[in-house]
Amino acid sequence: MSDQVSPLQEARLGYAPKLPKVFAEHGTAVALTEGAPTQSIADQTEMKELFPHTYGLPIVTFTGAGTAPSGSINVGVILSGGQAPGGHNVITGLYDGLKKLNPDNQLYGFLGGPSGLIDNDHICFGDNFIDQYRNTGGFDIIGSGRTKLEAEDQFAKVAANCKALGVSAVVVVGGDDSNTNACIMAEYMLKNDTGIQVIGCPKTIDGDLKNEWIEASFGFDTATKVYSGLIGNIQRDSNSAKKYYHFIKLMGRSASHIALECALKTHPNHAIISEEVAEKKLTLDQIVTEIATIIRDRAAAKKNFGVVLIPEGLIEFVPEVKVMISELNEMLAAEAKAFDALDADDKVAFVKAKLTGASAHAFSSMPYDIQEQFLMDRDPHGNVQVSRIQTEKLLIEMVQAKLKDWAAKGEYSGKFDALNHFFGYEGRCAAPSNFDADYCYSLGFTAVALVASGKSGYIASVRNLTKPADQWVPGGIPLTMMMNLERRHGKSKPVIRKALVELDQKPFQELATHREDWAMNDEFVYPGPIQYYGPTEVCDLPTVTMQIEHE
Ligand code: FBP
Repeated sequence: MSDQVSPLQEARLGYAPKLPKVFAEHGTAVALTEGAPTQSIADQTEMKELFPHTYGLPIVTFTGAGTAPSGSINVGVILSGGQAPGGHNVITGLYDGLKKLNPDNQLYGFLGGPSGLIDNDHICFGDNFIDQYRNTGGFDIIGSGRTKLEAEDQFAKVAANCKALGVSAVVVVGGDDSNTNACIMAEYMLKNDTGIQVIGCPKTIDGDLKNEWIEASFGFDTATKVYSGLIGNIQRDSNSAKKYYHFIKLMGRSASHIALECALKTHPNHAIISEEVAEKKLTLDQIVTEIATIIRDRAAAKKNFGVVLIPEGLIEFVPEVKVMISELNEMLAAEAKAFDALDADDKVAFVKAKLTGASAHAFSSMPYDIQEQFLMDRDPHGNVQVSRIQTEKLLIEMVQAKLKDWAAKGEYSGKFDALNHFFGYEGRCAAPSNFDADYCYSLGFTAVALVASGKSGYIASVRNLTKPADQWVPGGIPLTMMMNLERRHGKSKPVIRKALVELDQKPFQELATHREDWAMNDEFVYPGPIQYYGPTEVCDLPTVTMQIEHE
């Protein structure tokens, strides 16, 4: 790590995260209250059979003073998947929470994500090392990775490595897939009497690991604040120069939570929500017509500028493109050898000749550089990497063509000059907002309290998040409770259900109510950069999505 520290980073190292009252008063030696036995969200009979040791556990809440376990404990932690602001604070929370219980407790960090746990690549944290990472962004403290930790032989290695280190609990900091695997690993550890507890922790900027009990995944708050600050700046530039349309794609994988939250924060002229596209079965042409219509109407009002937000996963939700992608995936898998031997130009021609019906039409209607992007290297599962497809450029080109067509027919007489942007990596490692710094530190304490209470197969949960931190409610949710069966790679698998934007829920309804107004009358909001110091109503605000959900 660099020894050059910015003044803000220096100040943030000294920030003391706010904690729920029970932890502020009693540290991590806390007592828990158990609720009634739980059920999975669906497929209860199958889940009970698949998870005989971890199914039906009660929700637990930490409510008052308790006693620390006798003797010391060693805990291991991994960061899994994409970076999310606040990961370092989960680790500092785990570290401080463990040391509060017993100074002899140790925290081990497994390096590079799940592979570090399998290969026993680890460090043991100490005060000086951990202090450099307090309230900082990034996952560089131990790194992260996307190795899937899901097979029994991997779990056996994990058990052996943990035993060798005297580690009796593993905390998996990850998204829906990593927590699904944490659930399977917890079951394995109990079934095989390993004595190793497994606790999950909800991470992802995408915001798609949430439900009734997990109000937010960490990192979503900071990332959307960074993106919204940038969108606001672009809106102000657009409104000042009055000559460009800005098409901004926002990271977030399949779900449109990030695009929705940023739209609610900034009031752009248009925001596409993939889940609505899927629900209304909108074609690419309909999406383009919708945008072009706004541009035409604004041109009639002498406004040739504006901002359009596009969710990263949009392309997968457009029915004809979805069919095309699945035909492409199958074709490229079946013809991999012949395809890989071709050079770029021949690849496009090869695919064009093989695609059928609507897929062939969808592919042919796309610009050449986008066709090439559909044929780039596939992911480890052999799928087209949709996040690499420049949807923002595709839409600009298609809107431009439509406006040209309308102009030729005398139906449009504006000027369309568009710029494209993609915001993703700009926000994933930002210094955590006060919300994420506090939330993550509290999640670390909660995970320690779950370990100290002997729990396994739980995800750390901190609720009541729209209230000040001292009123937050820490506890644990059985991972099996969030699971259902889904088809994955042709098989029925137990997984945590991914949360998509619900069109009948208040956050989307808020957008739907205002979007016509925002399209024509520039109601832009300029959130500005994240504020770490200052009045609480500026610095400690939770997301608009969560505020609306809790109204
Ligand atoms: P997870 O939190 O689900 O791991 O993903 C976060 C994310 O930032 C997605 O929004 C994005 O599509 C993906 O990671 C990018 O992956 P990579 O880091 O491999 O480029």
